[in-house]
Amino acid sequence: LPLLGLTVVLGYLLGSIPFGIVIARAFGLGDLRRIGSGNIGATNVLRTGNKLAAFLTLILDAGKGGLAVLLARWALAEDAAQLAGVAAFLGHLFPVWLGFKGGKGVATFLGTLLALSFPVGIAACGLWLLTAAATRISSLSALVAAVLSPLAAWGMDRPDLLVLTAALALIILERHRANIGRILAGQEPRIGKK
Ligand code: G3P
Repeated sequence: LPLLGLTVVLGYLLGSIPFGIVIARAFGLGDLRRIGSGNIGATNVLRTGNKLAAFLTLILDAGKGGLAVLLARWALAEDAAQLAGVAAFLGHLFPVWLGFKGGKGVATFLGTLLALSFPVGIAACGLWLLTAAATRISSLSALVAAVLSPLAAWGMDRPDLLVLTAALALIILERHRANIGRILAGQEPRIGKK
């Protein structure tokens, strides 16, 4: 049990690293929370026009979720891997370093899912990409990927991931309240636009 607690704490700490903020600052792009939507994710980094910075944010925010899962699986077992993934996701949403005001968790969700089940993760990424190709709206792509991820888990014969995907999808929905309002009003900016 102490080891389980340690992987959860480690997962949270990994997840709480706000790579968007760190990278935007390192690239001299300013404080991400004062740009675009104010969110700390890759989509908002892209609004600065710096594609490399946005790409790095995406990879690192996804990677920290994946790493938390892999570390817990290596040290313990599959239940611990799920717990660590959820901890990393919550770390991104509630980072102690930003007064617990974090991001929307989409990249970290996808990275966590890829590490928990590569096929389910690929399915979720595919749903994101398909929706993005059709609509150019990042938040809508995230919502489609998240909400359909339990279906992907079920379809890929991973019922053990149903509760996790459903719970994280609900949290992602709640986090996108403002985005959903803008989507319905036809005012959500397209990918890469301010
Ligand atoms: O991953 C976050 C994305 O779904 C929305 O980001 O900046 O458009 O609110 P943003």
